Amino acid sequence: MSQTTNHQFRLAARPVGLPKRSDWNYTEEPVRDPGPSEVLVKNLYISLDPAMRGWMNEGRSYVEPVKIGDVMRASAVGRVVASQNQNFKAGEHVFGLLGMQEYAISDGKGLNKIDPNLAPLPVYLSALGITGLTAYFGLLEIGRPVAGETVVVSGAAGATGMVVGQIAKIKGCRAVGIAGGREKCDYVVRELGFDACIDYKAEKVLESLRQHCPKGINVYFDNVGGQILDAALACLAMRARVAICGAISQYNATSGIQGPANYLSLLVNRARMEGFLVFDFAARYAEGVRYLATWRAQGKLKSKEDIVEGLETFPETLLKLFSGENFGKLMIKVADS
Ligand SMILES: NC(=O)c1ccc[n+]([C@@H]2O[C@H](COP(=O)([O-])OP(=O)(O)OC[C@H]3O[C@@H](n4cnc5c(N)ncnc54)[C@H](OP(=O)(O)O)[C@@H]3O)[C@@H](O)[C@H]2O)c1
Repeated sequence: MSQTTNHQFRLAARPVGLPKRSDWNYTEEPVRDPGPSEVLVKNLYISLDPAMRGWMNEGRSYVEPVKIGDVMRASAVGRVVASQNQNFKAGEHVFGLLGMQEYAISDGKGLNKIDPNLAPLPVYLSALGITGLTAYFGLLEIGRPVAGETVVVSGAAGATGMVVGQIAKIKGCRAVGIAGGREKCDYVVRELGFDACIDYKAEKVLESLRQHCPKGINVYFDNVGGQILDAALACLAMRARVAICGAISQYNATSGIQGPANYLSLLVNRARMEGFLVFDFAARYAEGVRYLATWRAQGKLKSKEDIVEGLETFPETLLKLFSGENFGKLMIKVADS
C-alpha cells in the first residue's frame, strides 16, 4: 500500500459555538501496511454525529476529548484491505471507530464484522447501527413504554428519533413526533406511521402537545433539550418517564446551557427523568441488532440515510446536524468499495 495516500481531518482548535473549517486540518500521509495483529481498513461510509461537537471540547465527559492534532473520532463502515489479525480477512466488511479518514489501522478491538447481504452498508450506521441501538435501548429500557401509552419523541425525523417512533408503534403505543418543518413531519406520519408530528418551527409546541396528547405524555424521549424539553415536561402524565438521550439545541451554546424550568412537573406527576448512554448497553448490542434487523425484514422498521459524497466536505456537512438540513442519518460516502 506504499503508494496509497490517506487523507484525514485532524482537530486543529477547540471551537467556540459552531465549528468552523479552521478548527480542522486536512492532512495526508502514506498508508502503511498493518503490523502484527493489525487490520488495515478502507473506510466507505463515515457517520456524522451530534456527539462529535462534545468530543471537540476540552474537559472530561463520558469519553476523553479528541486531542488537538488527533484524527477526528468517527464511526465508519469499511472493507478490510489487508490483515495480520486472525479474526479478520481481506474483503470482509467491518464497523468500528475508524476516524474521519480514508484508511484506518485497527488492532481489531471494537471492530465488528457486518454482512452487506443482510442490509446495505449505510444502514449499519443508521437503523442497524448506533443510532438504531440508541433508540432501542433508550426507549425500551429507560422509557419502558406500555401498549396504549403515548410516546413523544423530539428530533423525530432524525436518525435516532425516527427509530424511536417506529418502535413505539411496534409496541402498541401512540407515537407523536416533534420535528422541524412540514416535510419532515409529513414523512414521519405518512411514511413511518407516527400518529402525529408537531412542526416546532411553525407551531406552538406546548399547545400542540396538549392537543395531540390529551391524556398527557407517558414517555418523552428527548433528543433536543431546551424549550422543547420544557414544553414536554409541562404535559407529563402521572408516572411518566423522560429519557434524556441528547440536547442538540444546547451543544453550540456559548452562554450557558438552558436547563428545564418545568422540572417540578416530575414531582407533581411522580415522574422520572433519566439520562442514558447507548454504550452502557454494549454487552446487549447483538440482541438489539437482532430485533432491529427482524423488524426491518418484516417491513415494520424503515430507515432513511442522508449521504453526502466526499471526505473533504466534512466541516460543512457536520453543520447540517445543527441547522436541521440533514434528513435522516447523516453520513459521508468516502469510497464505493
Ligand atoms: N445518549 C446516547 O447514547 C446517544 C447516542 C446517539 C445520539 N444521541 C443524541 O441523540 C440526538 C439525535 O442524534 P442523531 O444522531 O439521531 O441526529 P439527527 O436527529 O439525525 O440530527 C440532528 C437533528 O437535530 C435537530 N436539531 C438541530 N438543532 C435543533 C434545535 N436547536 N432544536 C431542535 N432540534 C434541533 C435537527 O432536526 P430538525 O430539522 O427536526 O430541527 C437535526 O436534523 C442528539 O442529541 C445526540 O447527541 C445520544
